Amino acid sequence: MIRNLVIRPAEEADRAAIHALVDAAFEGPSEAKLVDRLVADNDVVLELVALHEGTLVGHVLFSRLLVKTGNRLVPAVALAPLAVDPGSQRTGVGTALVENAHHMVQEAGETLSVVLGDPAYYGRFGYVHDRAAKFESAYQCAALQALSWGDAPMAGKLIYAPAFSDL
Ligand SMILES: CC(C)(COP(=O)(O)OP(=O)(O)OC[C@H]1O[C@@H](n2cnc3c(N)ncnc32)[C@H](O)[C@@H]1OP(=O)(O)O)[C@@H](O)C(=O)NCCC(=O)NCCS
Repeated sequence: MIRNLVIRPAEEADRAAIHALVDAAFEGPSEAKLVDRLVADNDVVLELVALHEGTLVGHVLFSRLLVKTGNRLVPAVALAPLAVDPGSQRTGVGTALVENAHHMVQEAGETLSVVLGDPAYYGRFGYVHDRAAKFESAYQCAALQALSWGDAPMAGKLIYAPAFSDL
């Protein structure tokens, strides 16, 4: 566990460090580009960074997701990407980012979060495929998971921010 970890909202001055960190955490440049595009398009609901002794060691972004049920568009959030600096992985940074972010989006009135990722990891935060199984999505598979904090649709079409179409 990293001690003295600071979790705070991302700021404009963090942009270059966030890009470098996301680039380093993932194999290709797609996720770093995704972050830049989501920010440029104003589709970010919450973006947090984790700092250890002033250095950026983690980043998480939640973007606006819509669930279309009949003629209703219900707002939800999509967790992606989550990235921890390779030198700081498995020290609790990702967990601290996701737990803080969940608390904040929940406080802000969000009722549903969807993630596409390893159930072995995201299951620890309460994400389950069963909660997402009835959603219509190009990403529908066992790795599509959801977590809800209130009255949120069980089914419907997931409409991701346009940045995801260019991945
Ligand atoms: C996946 C990632 C975000 C996890 O963050 P992290 O800070 O390393 O994870 P934590 O230290 O909070 O991990 C907590 C637990 O999850 C486990 N864990 C970490 N990565 C895991 C993975 N990919 N799959 C399954 N379990 C994982 C850890 O072993 C740890 O278990 P423990 O509590 O029983 O010891 C990070 O490793 C990362 O950035 N990876 C590369 C980018 C990536 O794959 N992002 C996710 C895309 S959806």
